[in-house]
Amino acid sequence: MATASKIAAVGVIGAGQMGSGIAQLAAAAGCAVLLLDSDPAALSRAVASISASLRRLVAKGQLSQAACEDSIKRIRCVSRVQELGDVDLVIEAIVEVEDVKKKLFVELDGITKPSAILASNTSSISITRLASATKRPSQVIGMHFFNPPPIMKLIEIIRGADTSEDVFSAVKSFSERIGKTVICSQDYPGFIVNRILMPMINEAFWALYTGVATKEDIDTGMKLGTNHPMGPLQLADFIGLDVCLSVLRVLHNGLGDNKYSPCPLLVQYVDAGRLGKKRGVGVYSYGQRSTTSVK
Ligand code: NAI
Repeated sequence: MATASKIAAVGVIGAGQMGSGIAQLAAAAGCAVLLLDSDPAALSRAVASISASLRRLVAKGQLSQAACEDSIKRIRCVSRVQELGDVDLVIEAIVEVEDVKKKLFVELDGITKPSAILASNTSSISITRLASATKRPSQVIGMHFFNPPPIMKLIEIIRGADTSEDVFSAVKSFSERIGKTVICSQDYPGFIVNRILMPMINEAFWALYTGVATKEDIDTGMKLGTNHPMGPLQLADFIGLDVCLSVLRVLHNGLGDNKYSPCPLLVQYVDAGRLGKKRGVGVYSYGQRSTTSVK
């Protein structure tokens, strides 16, 4: 079984906003990183954003030029899952769709070495169900980073029903090695943070949808009224409205309470492709794509 100190090679699958940050962290901690995405353009964007992020740290005096160059060199982009046969830990950060993740876990189970740990960065999908798609459920675990991973200090670790104590310890130590604080959640819908955060974001959409206030006043209210660093609608844009909608659907289906039912306005934004900052437009516009105001 891989222990934290033996985690030398890490596979990161999904080179979007989360996967690129996770790859950066693992490379900066000295691991060889194989970064995989089904979309070659996502890999190019990830390499550019990782380099820019590391160079910002150099400019701030938080990283030496040599360490920056070494980290960049440790990341290799690959295009096929079969190339991950020798990694000690895989961290999956692909689209938040259970069937797609399960299919990937089956594939990973078939090609990774028997000792490899398979982790998912899912925001809400059951780790137990992902694990049960494999023949190594004791080596499957949730490793939930926050956005953006290089900045946010937290990792929520989720034990599936069969996750072994050794795997939990190895992943906890690895998380600490990459500089994070760990909290541990049982495997229930939304885990800890999204169970509490997503209803607040959904309520902010309801407030906007029903005309309680403007988006700016909703966000300013929650920023200054509750001392949050950003308002819930802006935060939803940063997370990705598609991710928020997926998590709410998991909460709604898994906990069976109508309070988690996604607001129609959130559904409409996602249907319209207004996915948030990553697409240049969500609740707010980020100057990369023009939009008409929906509400
Ligand atoms: P994203 O949309 O920025 O990136 C997802 C990437 O996965 C895309 O580049 C896509 O091409 C790739 N992909 C999709 N299916 C694939 C497959 N079968 N094989 C290989 N690559 C595939 O999404 P983001 O925001 O990075 O989220 C990824 C995961 O992380 C989701 O499970 C999400 O719930 C979770 N997460 C997201 C957070 C956020 O704030 N956005 C926070 C914590 C977790």
